[in-house]
Amino acid sequence: MTTEESAGRQRQNVIYRDGVFGRRPKVPTDFESLERAAKKKMSAAAWAYVHGGAGSGRTVQANRDAFDRWQIVPRVLRDVSKRDLGVELFGKRLPSPLLLAPVGAAELAGPGADVAIASAAAELGVPYIFSNQGSAPMEESAAAMGDSPRWFQLYWSTEDDLVDSLLERAENMGADAVVVTLDTTMLGWRPEDLNLGSLPFAQGKGIAQYTSDPVFMRIVRERIAAALPKPDTEVTLGAVRALISMTSRFPGRFLDNLRSPEPRAAVETFLDIYSRPSLGWADLESVRERTSLPVLLKGVLHPDDARRAVDIGMNGIVVSNHGGRQVDGGVSSLDALNDIAPAVKGAVPIVLDSGIRGGADVFKALALGADAVTLGRPHLYGLALAGGEGVRDVTANVIAEFDLTMGLSGLASVAEITRDALRRA
Ligand code: FNR
Repeated sequence: MTTEESAGRQRQNVIYRDGVFGRRPKVPTDFESLERAAKKKMSAAAWAYVHGGAGSGRTVQANRDAFDRWQIVPRVLRDVSKRDLGVELFGKRLPSPLLLAPVGAAELAGPGADVAIASAAAELGVPYIFSNQGSAPMEESAAAMGDSPRWFQLYWSTEDDLVDSLLERAENMGADAVVVTLDTTMLGWRPEDLNLGSLPFAQGKGIAQYTSDPVFMRIVRERIAAALPKPDTEVTLGAVRALISMTSRFPGRFLDNLRSPEPRAAVETFLDIYSRPSLGWADLESVRERTSLPVLLKGVLHPDDARRAVDIGMNGIVVSNHGGRQVDGGVSSLDALNDIAPAVKGAVPIVLDSGIRGGADVFKALALGADAVTLGRPHLYGLALAGGEGVRDVTANVIAEFDLTMGLSGLASVAEITRDALRRA
């Protein structure tokens, strides 16, 4: 985005012009109001799943506190009339250093979920990282994006055949990169969900990449043939609701599905095989033979792990603590970035994930060595409030604020954002 009429000014103009006609923005332009408004729209289970963190929520808080420990020191009287927010990642020029983070079971936040998010991302040219636990098959989300960039996020299943199948599908649907998420080999302890006894996947939400996969469905049918899993005979209202939820999400006709053991077996199979807690470096080394796509490791927080990732030929690092959803009392992703950047800077691109809420956060992450950042919960809140338009506007707002922050700090391009622009608070 290099324009006289910059991303920031454009967005302000749209909002202020609408204001003249008495129209307010569909999504609040600051994170706190956005979150508050989204909470009102979302069901208790959806709010718990999206908002919730691990344990007491200290890592979620740490992600924010870390940003507050750095302050931007603007410089004046520099020509910032023309600014360039663009970056290059894996051979593609992107309009800004922002990507949309992979979020599973996004249908909780709003109908159409993945496809609506994908179209919104495509409108802005922002890459969307499709979750392995998406609510739509990756091919459907890709079809909504035209030539716009998308990546695929992989959870490494206990079944290598399934991993290969997902990677092949990612290549075929035009992914520019694969992000292997390493921090969720088990689900973290999440009291907000636990207190409601609510897990979206158990209702058949967020397993569309699996039920659309030929290898996964082969495994499901083999398990049914072997009389696995054993049916649970207790019939409660909740169990009936869950059955309807699973059945209605399963590919094919609802009435046929209702008579079939497959929807329920698919959920059980997913829960059994989606992730491999024994995953080790050797598995990751094998990824090179499994795909020709660039591979990034997500969930790296220690410089030694980052160095090792580079040593075994990984193409990028996503510094992330999964939005504080996995380990309570964990290091913030920004502090981890501060340690990791000197270890691998320049060797491979570094993406900072977890805690990005506005343009100033993007700026600080880049100053501390990130090449790009991902936007997570905020875009889901946009979805909850105004569907695809909400996702688009939340994302455009963050890019606009980043543009203005950069320009008002006296910098005209992303490459000029260095540590010199910050001081410790
Ligand atoms: C996630 N995240 C995630 N990550 C991933 O690799 N695969 C996934 O399927 C999901 N699913 C998911 C669902 C929901 C509801 C949330 C909020 C998050 C983590 C996500 O990619 C990202 O790391 C965090 O959202 C970053 O934290 P913040 O910035 O959103 O707080």
